[in-house]
Amino acid sequence: MLELYECDKCKQMVLIVQEGPGSLVCCDQPMIQMQEKSGAEEGKEKHIPVVEKTEKGTRVKVGSIPHPMVDDHFIQWIEVIGDSFLQTETLKPGENPEKEFCVPFEKVKKVRIFCNKHGFWIKK
Ligand SMILES: [Fe+2]
Repeated sequence: MLELYECDKCKQMVLIVQEGPGSLVCCDQPMIQMQEKSGAEEGKEKHIPVVEKTEKGTRVKVGSIPHPMVDDHFIQWIEVIGDSFLQTETLKPGENPEKEFCVPFEKVKKVRIFCNKHGFWIKK
């Protein structure tokens, strides 16, 4: 559940919210499951989310070194995932690479971010 697939040709992306036996096809070819990177890869300092408890809930900063937020390289979205929630915030170039979520820090099981150049990164 919550796997992300991409069309290699047109770059359309699909998020799976319920798995089924079928396979995804776009532009007459199978879609590719995007792999979550978790820190063994180059660039982890700017992509692995840093998760903090706040008064309101949970703050996610992208990178121990803030990720660039320029037109051709930026964080497109941040997801916080728990047993009973999935919250997504989108970002735009020029914004700070961070968002605050109204979910209890203790209940967050996974945080994922998507960089338009470097893909999908996760903090468990
Ligand atoms: Fe990046």
